[in-house]
Amino acid sequence: MPSATTQDTTAAAGNVVGGHEQSRPRITEPLAYTGSLDDFTHHDLTPVIGREFTGLQIRDLLKWDDRLIKDLAYTVSQRGVVFLKDQDVTPVEMKDFMLRLTELAGCPSSSGLHVHPLTEEGSELGDQISVISSEKQKKGGGLTHQLSDVSRFASAGWHSDITFEKVPSDYAMLKIHTLPATGGDTLWASGYEIYDRLSEPMRAFLEGLTATHDASFFHDEAARLGNPLRKGVRGSPLNQGGDLKAVHPVVRTNPVTGWKSVYVNRGFTKRINGVSKDESDVLLQYLFNLVTQNHDAQVRYRWGKNDCAIWDNRSTLHCATYDYEAARAGDRVCSLGEAPYLDVTSRSRREALGI
Ligand code: SIN
Repeated sequence: MPSATTQDTTAAAGNVVGGHEQSRPRITEPLAYTGSLDDFTHHDLTPVIGREFTGLQIRDLLKWDDRLIKDLAYTVSQRGVVFLKDQDVTPVEMKDFMLRLTELAGCPSSSGLHVHPLTEEGSELGDQISVISSEKQKKGGGLTHQLSDVSRFASAGWHSDITFEKVPSDYAMLKIHTLPATGGDTLWASGYEIYDRLSEPMRAFLEGLTATHDASFFHDEAARLGNPLRKGVRGSPLNQGGDLKAVHPVVRTNPVTGWKSVYVNRGFTKRINGVSKDESDVLLQYLFNLVTQNHDAQVRYRWGKNDCAIWDNRSTLHCATYDYEAARAGDRVCSLGEAPYLDVTSRSRREALGI
């Protein structure tokens, strides 16, 4: 088993910074969309981020040929998040689907589905399903991103999933099957658009930097819940042990689109490396503000029963809204992509689309 503690943050080859030799994408060029999803009813929810499909069932995609799933992966990476209305898909089918999606999008052969460090051993739906449940949270169990002890700003919860792992998530899928009459919306923001809002000198500066992502607070959370932290392999041989810290480039390239995205988040990014603590605090606060204060880089989704969202964690951030009393619950699966890297020759989304 390769060591989980080594992280290759040096130049790997030519223009590529970061990454890890044991966790490189299997694609060397961005994917090309073939048009196989064009005939399904869909519309974009904002100019920058989000597309919604109706009448497209994930369960059917599992039976059809790979081309559609590959096109869906491309669409998710391009639009940041895709919503599929009223899905029949079961948790087991969600896992099958996410494995197909990540493989067809070119994840490294060493990457599979993530096991969250707080997932209870022997949980009923299996290790790779995170149960999102407001009732469990009220009882003090289950995952929580609710930071109300720390902050009274709803925006304190903005994050990308599991960036504390050496090999973090490429895609995540969430199905909400139980929801309040109103409230419980989820917001996503585009990391591509955050990059596009930076000036040229700021881009060049940030592209030379890495940041430390740290979820050591999960040790306290595990103790509070009375569950041992999951220290075995969490979906990649590079993700194991109790050190829930990783160093990633501040700007990364998404291999599926070839576009650059800012890759820091309020939930897990604690420090920009190589600058003073004061400078790191200022830079991180500025980047977090770009996410939270640009509502035109965000989409806010009002869930319907059994809707599914699939998002690209490399190039988006998201934030749940805890504004409801009634039960809200769903299942989430996260697949793992490559160790983050920056190809300095890759382009921004706006540059690539000519907008
Ligand atoms: C998550 O942060 O992955 C869950 C989002 C939600 O519950 O809306």
